[in-house]
Amino acid sequence: MTKHKVLVQPSGREFSVPAGQPVLVAALAAGITLPHGCKNGACGSCKGKVLSGIVHHGPHGEAALSAAEEADGFALFCCAIPQTDLVIEARITAALDGIVPHKMPARIEHIDWAAKDVAVLTVKLPASEHLKYRAGQYVDFILPNGVRRSYSIASMPDGDGPIEFHIRHMPGGTFTDALFGMTNPMVRERGILRLEGPLGTFFLREGDAEPIVLLASGTGFAPIKAILETIFAKSLHRDDPATGRRGRPVLLYWGARTRADLYMDALPRRWEQEQPNFRYIPVLSEPDGVSGMPETAESAPPWTGRTGLVHRAVMQDLPDLSGYQVYACGVPIMVQSAHRDFVAHCGLKEENFFSDAFVSRADLPATAR
Ligand SMILES: Cc1cc2nc3c(=O)[nH]c(=O)nc-3n(C[C@H](O)[C@H](O)[C@H](O)COP(=O)(O)OP(=O)(O)OC[C@H]3O[C@@H](n4cnc5c(N)ncnc54)[C@H](O)[C@@H]3O)c2cc1C
Ligand code: FES
Repeated sequence: MTKHKVLVQPSGREFSVPAGQPVLVAALAAGITLPHGCKNGACGSCKGKVLSGIVHHGPHGEAALSAAEEADGFALFCCAIPQTDLVIEARITAALDGIVPHKMPARIEHIDWAAKDVAVLTVKLPASEHLKYRAGQYVDFILPNGVRRSYSIASMPDGDGPIEFHIRHMPGGTFTDALFGMTNPMVRERGILRLEGPLGTFFLREGDAEPIVLLASGTGFAPIKAILETIFAKSLHRDDPATGRRGRPVLLYWGARTRADLYMDALPRRWEQEQPNFRYIPVLSEPDGVSGMPETAESAPPWTGRTGLVHRAVMQDLPDLSGYQVYACGVPIMVQSAHRDFVAHCGLKEENFFSDAFVSRADLPATAR
């Protein structure tokens, strides 16, 4: 079978790609972790430059890779199929070496209806299984017909409790219609799910020193919660007199439409009281709107907190992001806007922006759905 060689710069790592296979699939199979998120051409996390050689750009969303970027030599490595040997430019994520995704069953222990359209699922693995992951990564739920749906892990690695997921209802969606309508016995309490993970390259860079901005919209809070729990458990936000290491200041901006959509608001508010060097800034785009649990919106006093777009609130508070790391997660438009505006207007270094865009079938081109 014809294979094409791919050389990754600047690391100099090399691997070969069987005919017809996307670059990312072959890289991961060779143990080389290139940046990625959705793996289906919708989020843009795997975008990199083809320095030499030719690829066939598979079906992908225009928001993930525009025609102009394609003309400039960029490709989405999750769907780019080599037609010749290639030299590509991409960052290799060495911190994930040794973390190997695998398939496992999980029993749903509890479903908590945290808002009208958000379910918090806790699952337990068999005693023989251990899921080793980094805070921020996600897993795929494999449905009985083989269809996959991605969900970020909301609990920190190596915690003793069950594994937690925050799941937003997408009306018309295969999996979440079943969960919220409870039409499928697999997604009821005590049902068995099949998972594959951990996946993705969105995770906390624990060894770095920059102050941290965490940016979430809606259930984008899930991986951010795992990241925060890890920061607090490892005291990364506190000065360490033994080594002289300075604690990393941490700011959480959580955006939602209405107050009820901040479905775990009490938790970061409590952390703000308990933890030094941590600030929580909730931002509502429709503070007077009614959604989620109706009684919350009607009985609560008027909202006096921040309003507008959550990434704009960051820009107002921190017009210079040149010394920061940003971790952004949630709806694709928020993640894309934050990336574009933080780099263009606030001096954020490209390599200090980490994200997972919560894309779904609605974000794919018709040919790839
Ligand atoms: C890396 C990653 C991590 C994620 N983590 C989370 C998380 O922690 N929490 C969370 O809530 N979400 C998360 N998501 C998003 C989640 O995976 C999607 O929302 C998921 O697709 C929902 O599954 P579903 O089967 O209910 O909907 P799908 O069947 O995928 O449908 C999604 C939407 O698309 C519409 N649709 C379906 N088919 C078509 C079509 N042919 N044309 C037009 N529209 C169509 C549906 O009506 C629905 O509104 C994550 C996504 C990624 C990529
Ligand atoms: S991982 Fe390639 S576009 Fe999402």
